[in-house]
Amino acid sequence: MTARILDGKALAEELRADFQKRAAALATRRHRPGLAVLLVGEDPASQVYVRNKVAACAAAGIFSQKLVYPADVAEATVLAQIAALNADPRIHGILVQLPLPRHFDEQAVLEAIAPEKDVDGFHAENMGALAQGRPRFIPCTPYGVMQMLAANGVDPLGQEAVIVGRSNIVGKPMALLLIHAGATVTVCHSKTRDLACHTRRADILIAAAGKPRFITADMVKPGAVVIDVGINRLPPEAGGKLCGDVDFETVRDVASLVSPVPGGVGPMTIAMLLANTIEAAEREAGR
Ligand code: GUN
Repeated sequence: MTARILDGKALAEELRADFQKRAAALATRRHRPGLAVLLVGEDPASQVYVRNKVAACAAAGIFSQKLVYPADVAEATVLAQIAALNADPRIHGILVQLPLPRHFDEQAVLEAIAPEKDVDGFHAENMGALAQGRPRFIPCTPYGVMQMLAANGVDPLGQEAVIVGRSNIVGKPMALLLIHAGATVTVCHSKTRDLACHTRRADILIAAAGKPRFITADMVKPGAVVIDVGINRLPPEAGGKLCGDVDFETVRDVASLVSPVPGGVGPMTIAMLLANTIEAAEREAGR
């Protein structure tokens, strides 16, 4: 079997027309959606993500403000900026790019964002609402994965879903969304004893471990749907290319559907950030 490709790039492009229409409608009502993106430090991957997020805003007609700080900035400076953005009527969404430098209390920074502007959905209040099945904002990466499944006719109801990775950004919210969609969910992680025995049971396998080409064909059930959330850069001696957590070339012979890297989940994460920002502006404008 050769798997069908879950094309996140094409789906994100399809969604753009709807975003443009909604952003333009808001702008005519003097509520043009606005996103502030804060980047602390010089992490090359974060710089690329932030650049892509700002460019996607421009393409959709969303106002964006990029705020960049050196790695040694005081946490109080960033907290003061967030407080100003919370009160800024031009801004409907605030995103602090993660990871933050080690001297930051990451959760304290995320909690400083007004929950109604927390378009990442990482504030404890929003994570709590998601856990209870009444989300205000769905974290962008798992939201994008759910959209990709739906757009390709994959219904998680009654299926075995296995997630590899337990991060606050992906693994945990992904588990909640799949539980609410009716899947039987297993969350595996670095301490899981026999990983392959779990992954081989998966009808839907979500790879979010942050380890290049970690999921190999022998770990995948024939006919499974495999979603690759990893974005890893191979070392220069291995070509320096981007690759996911899934060994795409072998897994595509076993799975029925597989998402590529790049061009899979990444573009959908950005699309869902735009969706959440527009949603925030629509709520503020009273529809
Ligand atoms: N770093 C990696 N993924 C994300 C994300 O979805 N949001 C933020 N803020 N930082 C990230």
